[in-house]
Amino acid sequence: MQNKEVVLKVLKEEGKGTQKVLCVGLLCLDIVCVCQEYPIEDTDQRCLDQQWRRGGNAANTATVLKGLGSPVEYLGVIMGQQGRELCEDLRTGGVDIGNCVWEAETPTPTSCIILSASTGSRTIMHFNRGLKEVPLQHFSSVHLSPYSWIHFEGRNYPTVKEMIERVRDWRRQAKGGYPKISLEMEKTKPQETFQGLLSCVSLVDLLFVSSTVSQALGFSSKEQAVKHFKSLIHPTAVVICAWGKDGACGSAGEGSEVLSVPAVSPDKVIDTLGAGDTFNAATLFALARGFSLREVLEFACTVAGVKCGTYGVNEIL
Ligand code: ADP
Ligand code: FRU
Repeated sequence: MQNKEVVLKVLKEEGKGTQKVLCVGLLCLDIVCVCQEYPIEDTDQRCLDQQWRRGGNAANTATVLKGLGSPVEYLGVIMGQQGRELCEDLRTGGVDIGNCVWEAETPTPTSCIILSASTGSRTIMHFNRGLKEVPLQHFSSVHLSPYSWIHFEGRNYPTVKEMIERVRDWRRQAKGGYPKISLEMEKTKPQETFQGLLSCVSLVDLLFVSSTVSQALGFSSKEQAVKHFKSLIHPTAVVICAWGKDGACGSAGEGSEVLSVPAVSPDKVIDTLGAGDTFNAATLFALARGFSLREVLEFACTVAGVKCGTYGVNEIL
């Protein structure tokens, strides 16, 4: 069976979910230049294609969750006119954007991306002068009962920690375990954010750690990273580390084993932009449905693999 068919079969068996996921983080403009090869500096050449896409980790994750059939909401600051149009497109695709903050005067954060058609590699140059983040006060005004899961893109420390604390307070008052909380630690800069996010790892139910973060901490494999973070997270939490074409690794709770699964490659890797965001969406989908950790990792790698064989994240399935 083709990888895409494997995913579609799982979706058919699982049906459309009823539990809403909230993804908090960035929405930006991605200007993608598809080049035959990664270019040589100071040369003049033609691209094979150029695409203007909606990007940003949280917006991408929300898009894929919707594609998987999950009710989903995106929460972020929408900057500039282009941001508004991209966000409107997200809404048209079925993602709730009802709690977003609008900042018309701030330029839309923009990435210029070189996508190599021969390897599928993506080289991102991101610009976000005057960037705005969701204020804590705004997040605190959002009623949390519709959400079964809140996924935070780890970026604006300390606010992200305060938002996580708010969800935990809400849960305590509601005397229940929902919404579940996940946090993505993807970047190592700015340094204060990176260090600050490390202090959040014990507060969440699911932690995604990237290969970039792992390497910055001195780990040379996903297994080393997971073994390290396993001792830092809450005893009932899950930690997952995706590692590009080396697949993914995870561990669920105290005393549980460290599981690794290989990547599931498409016939041809053409676009790895947003592979991690896609992997995260598929993980949230699978965990929310009670898959075992091995099933979660296999499903997430399969969906991410299908994405790597497809341009963009809108039409993976
Ligand atoms: P990011 O986009 O954050 O850099 P990763 O590179 O870690 O994310 O990739 C996330 C997941 O996407 C991997 O665990 C893997 O399943 C899949 N993936 C990424 N690159 C490839 C590739 N070249 N071939 C197959 N799968 C890939
Ligand atoms: C992919 C992505 C792009 C965006 C960049 C921001 O993971 O979200 O869509 O340009 O990362 O860092």
